[in-house]
Amino acid sequence: MIVGAQWGDEGKGKIVDLLAQGSDVVCRYQGGPNAGHTIIVGDETFKIRQIPTGVIAGKTSVIGAGCVVDPEVFLEEVDELESRGVSTADVHLSGEAHVIMPWHVAIDQASERRLGKLQIGTTRRGIGPCYADKAMRLGIRVQDLLEPKILRQKIEVALAEKNVWLERVYHVEPFELEALAAKLERLAQRIRPYVADTSLLVDRALRNGRDVLLEGAQGTLLDLDHGTYPFVTSSSTVAANAATGVGIGPSRIDRVVGVAKAYVTRVGEGPFPTEIEGEDQARVRELGGEYGTVTGRERRCGWLDLVALRYAVRLNGITSLALTKLDVLSTFAELPVCVRYRLRDGTETEEFPAHQSDFHSATPVYETQPGWRVPLDGELPDAARGYVQFVERALGVGISLVGTGAARERVVALR
Ligand code: IMP
Repeated sequence: MIVGAQWGDEGKGKIVDLLAQGSDVVCRYQGGPNAGHTIIVGDETFKIRQIPTGVIAGKTSVIGAGCVVDPEVFLEEVDELESRGVSTADVHLSGEAHVIMPWHVAIDQASERRLGKLQIGTTRRGIGPCYADKAMRLGIRVQDLLEPKILRQKIEVALAEKNVWLERVYHVEPFELEALAAKLERLAQRIRPYVADTSLLVDRALRNGRDVLLEGAQGTLLDLDHGTYPFVTSSSTVAANAATGVGIGPSRIDRVVGVAKAYVTRVGEGPFPTEIEGEDQARVRELGGEYGTVTGRERRCGWLDLVALRYAVRLNGITSLALTKLDVLSTFAELPVCVRYRLRDGTETEEFPAHQSDFHSATPVYETQPGWRVPLDGELPDAARGYVQFVERALGVGISLVGTGAARERVVALR
């Protein structure tokens, strides 16, 4: 199980791609086209949002029941992958996954506009409204796409409500039943071959001794229950939900690799204690290429936050860490690392505050680590190794992989 240990964009795609080489099945268990994975193989860069990263490595790829799927995005990705010689014949989509409908996207966009300064900064892909309808039991599932009569009926029921919202509350165009049903029926014909009982598929793979990799999207602090609510995504991103999202028991997960960047980034709104002040923020952004894969937005950049990372270790039961993009820090003479938060009452803590107001007002207490100021390639220089060991000691968790560049092979295995 691979989980993002920060606010997403930790470089999970690269780690999953690497570990997928030795796995048989790669599954996604939550989220949808709000995720953006960048994988660089040789001269080729792949940016995928909906299909599991394992597809690039030619592995059986599963989109589990806990995911939300935009059929158009899914098929665009299929076409893009196929046109570049990557087969999608072994991609399997759960019939229980929910479909992102055009009104979900329209509502996501309109509600963010309406919130104005209070907006969440979503990716505007319809994720929140789709999960909301799932919980409301108004959702349309992938399996509904395969039955035109049921599909039309469900669209009709949903539109009766959604169009009122769209027109009267958000003052945007409503959707027309016939046009929408016809379009989805067309898309359904192309989706059909990918639909499978993915819970059974993964269970059989495990029983047959296959290696299954579960690939988290977004990150721990974007978890709906445990993240920095309301500035979170609408699904549970933490490791425990991988079992639910795929449809296997929690006892089947035997290792949890947390992926953390050697610094921190965040897109969208919300508190961010270690956000870098001054020019260094732009320097990290440029060096790290910190622009959103899905939205192109500038990512906010901060120094490594061990309080938040300790929380991620706790929430996910992380058994080892992959520390990515260490090379981005190579130009700095000194590297501040947040070891504690100072709270409103002047006390200091190593534990992530459970109360939002404590977190919002927390200020970071830094310990400065020496930089290395040489490019990273192969063996880590002493100061870089020192940085890694400092993190390991503080968290009590080993770092097994260190990312030193964008390409697949730019990873140092420490264990
Ligand atoms: P949503 O998932 O589009 O509803 O967006 C909710 C929050 O999660 C926003 O702050 C987004 O920027 C953030 N978010 C969603 N997906 C990702 C991701 O893949 N990486 C980083 N942030 C994300």
